Amino acid sequence: MTASLDTGRVLVIVPTYNEARTLRKAVERVRTAVPAAHVLVVDDASPDGTGDIAQAMAELDPRVHVLHRPRKEGLGRAYLAGFRWGLDAGFDALVEMDADGSHQPEELPQLLAALANADLVIGSRYVAGGTVTNWPLHRTLLSRGGNLYTRLALGLPVRDATAGYRVYRASALRRLRLDGVASQGYCFQVDLAWRAVRTGLRIAEVPTTFVERTEGHSKMSSAIIREALLQVTRWGVAYRLGQIRRAMWRG
Ligand code: GDD
Ligand code: MN
Repeated sequence: MTASLDTGRVLVIVPTYNEARTLRKAVERVRTAVPAAHVLVVDDASPDGTGDIAQAMAELDPRVHVLHRPRKEGLGRAYLAGFRWGLDAGFDALVEMDADGSHQPEELPQLLAALANADLVIGSRYVAGGTVTNWPLHRTLLSRGGNLYTRLALGLPVRDATAGYRVYRASALRRLRLDGVASQGYCFQVDLAWRAVRTGLRIAEVPTTFVERTEGHSKMSSAIIREALLQVTRWGVAYRLGQIRRAMWRG
């Protein structure tokens, strides 16, 4: 069945930390690409005034909202707060999108269309038609390596498990036990993909074009990489031990 989604029930969540130079443009592009969709900016008290910019936009546009948080707590925590807000408000689809122009709002209609037959749609750089532009070699290696390690450790049937451009069906998100999510940094993306697979959600990957930012800075850090490596290894070990245990019960 392909029922088209009421885009008025779509919430695009945009986490921000020091994105004063890019946020306005990103939100405007969303509003143009999918005019009925709402936008929620989740700002962690950015010192550069991003929260004030978001506030000003929200005051002029009833479809733009802001969640001001007191301190920087990581991308994962910001999304969890945004998800809670969106689920409480009764949205049907919740979108994850970066504020720095890396994710193209013009592709959002295709991602939303794919939700007709899926519970989670991933904007994927690593399926046919997907691309990354302007990434330095170390980011390409980190992303490819991270995805390869994730596949080996967890056996995830997903080409781009770290992607940050996604759409979740609200009813599916409610089944993921978000209260148990501890991931603070970017491993949040793998965490939710892994939960989605284990919960039996239908996952679709739609090719996306990731354009590296030209303004501001990535918040990727060695602490974020360490957390991801540690967590994925932990989940992998628990998963493999479970496999062994089940095989022994059968044998
Ligand atoms: N509220 C909040 N708090 N927002 C944050 C924080 C935080 O602690 N850290 C980062 N963000 C916001 C940024 O302001 C931006 O809008 C978005 O999250 C992505 O951050 P970037 O720092 O630009 O991420 P990236 O380009 O290095 O990584 C992107 O690609 C990765 C996969 O290669 C993101 O989409 C990641 O989620 C993704 O895993
Ligand atoms: Mn970025």
